[in-house]
Amino acid sequence: MCGIIGYIGMDQAAPILLSGLEKLEYRGYDSAGIAVHNETGIQIVKATGRLKVLYNLTQGGASILGNAGIGHTRWGTHGESTDVNAHPHFNKDTSIAVVHNGIIENYIKLKKQLEAHGYKFLSQTDTEVIVQMLDYYYNGYPLETITKIMHFIEGSYALGIIFKNHPGEIYAVCKDSSLIVGQGSRGNFIASDVPAILKYTREICYLDNEDIVRLTDSGLTFYHNEEELKKAFVTVRMDLNAAEKGSYAHFMLKEMQEQPKAIADTMNPRLRDGSIVIKELGISDNKIRQIQKIYIVACGSAYHTGVTAKYIFEGLAQIPLEVDLASEFRYRNPILDRNTLVIVVSQSGETADSLAALRKAKANGGRVLGIVNVVESSIAREADNVMYTWAGPEIAVATTKAYSAQLIALYLLALKFSQVRGFLDAEKIACMVSNLQRLPEQISLLLSHKKDIQKIAHRYLKAEHIFFIGRGIDYGIALEGSLKLKEITYVHSEAYAAGELKHGTISLIENGRLVVAVLTQPFLYSKTISNIVEVKSRGAFVMAVTNVGNTEVEKVADYVIYIPETNLYFVNSLAVIPLQLFGYYLSIGKGLDVDKPRNLAKSVTVE
Ligand code: G6P
Repeated sequence: MCGIIGYIGMDQAAPILLSGLEKLEYRGYDSAGIAVHNETGIQIVKATGRLKVLYNLTQGGASILGNAGIGHTRWGTHGESTDVNAHPHFNKDTSIAVVHNGIIENYIKLKKQLEAHGYKFLSQTDTEVIVQMLDYYYNGYPLETITKIMHFIEGSYALGIIFKNHPGEIYAVCKDSSLIVGQGSRGNFIASDVPAILKYTREICYLDNEDIVRLTDSGLTFYHNEEELKKAFVTVRMDLNAAEKGSYAHFMLKEMQEQPKAIADTMNPRLRDGSIVIKELGISDNKIRQIQKIYIVACGSAYHTGVTAKYIFEGLAQIPLEVDLASEFRYRNPILDRNTLVIVVSQSGETADSLAALRKAKANGGRVLGIVNVVESSIAREADNVMYTWAGPEIAVATTKAYSAQLIALYLLALKFSQVRGFLDAEKIACMVSNLQRLPEQISLLLSHKKDIQKIAHRYLKAEHIFFIGRGIDYGIALEGSLKLKEITYVHSEAYAAGELKHGTISLIENGRLVVAVLTQPFLYSKTISNIVEVKSRGAFVMAVTNVGNTEVEKVADYVIYIPETNLYFVNSLAVIPLQLFGYYLSIGKGLDVDKPRNLAKSVTVE
């Protein structure tokens, strides 16, 4: 979840490293640093805080001369955010510098061994053992030394390494943590992600596990176990401006506004004359009929799309569906076979737990479909088949448009499975497809009422606890609304299946406590209304989100937000919009950094 960049070429490295780090800051932003080769050896500058601190310290990179260097933006795993713990880390005489993304799991043991050899450690990080080991084993040949230490280090890593004695070279390696290599006309690059180097090149190569690359200003050489190997490059087509904020105040606001387009782009290529065609599914109709169980495995908001999808797949396609958190799934023993479909949902395609769950599913004999936003990411490459969500780059840590696009992908799959398994005829499918096609315009309408939500959010700027309740699909919506809120406002929040509240959590309801109730399923209206009455009688202020026309709710709730009419299986796409806006306005009303909330990172590449 840290960001790594490296450049070697004809231009000054430091400004390029800083501009790359700016694009990688979404991966972590508690400190940043760069190390550049120059006449004095390796010059290292690091600074706690956002990248702008490092930027100011180095005058935008102008004060650090040299044509080769590595950079890092950190989301700390070991040790607090300090200059010392910031990367790059270096050995005693600053002749080797390393940037790292990942976790070295056996670092305590390695550290003890190195200390026994007289090594002194400056930082609290796991990364420092890497550079001290490189120092210990260094024999003048970087490739040999790097290959050697890879035998000793356990865990996940993407590394950028420079050696003072090899000023015209950068080395990089990765294991269970992704790293790309870029080939440009004025130099070569390594990076954690494509946007970091898109300004300079579109020719990208994805390193595979345990590949090592040696970069010089004019060439790239790839190795695996010290054997040279050829690697293929692809030309990426990503839009350079898509990852820019433009005139929006925040990425989150921009991305919320982009939701109609994100879902239209995800849906339209898969609709043909009122029916669903998912070419990339790679599963025949016959196979779809044989599927006996589906798992949806994911983390964070992507997991919440699974909670909603469970109701839809079970309702429409009558397939048992289990949703699991990837961090749990990977350490249990799920019973899978070739008639089990495991759907791994991920925006980044790099989430460490989701990737590990994917590997577990494959190892246990399941078939894996990835629903992924980042093209060619690890999950996209390792899944048996991949269905892309076409949401475009998402920068704000709190997901909005990628979440919405994931929901759409799952609706399409559920409809397809339902049709193939004979539960929906062509006429019914066509009617549901027309509901899907109206979602972009309905979302735009909800977004146009943002000022109303802003007003309510401002009433709750001082709230310390906010609860979300709902039943069935509404529970899935409540989970997402609550997560959005706590991610970006730091307000304690819990989402509860409305009927479960009375088993403990209702004791936390007191005078003035805000409870957000979601009621979009008519057959559950009266049940949730009873739960609203229960919290109201304990002094809660209730904000309800419900379907247009359900005016009954006004009798019990203090404030009602109506969502336009759609098929009941698709309501999540609409009901989540006011909840996203509520979180957003509460966050900016509190003066917080909504795009980069404390302690979080967008791409969670460690366990
Ligand atoms: C982080 C992000 C969440 C996201 C989760 C899963 O926690 O802040 O917004 O839902 O990771 O990420 P993925 O990339 O796998 O969807």
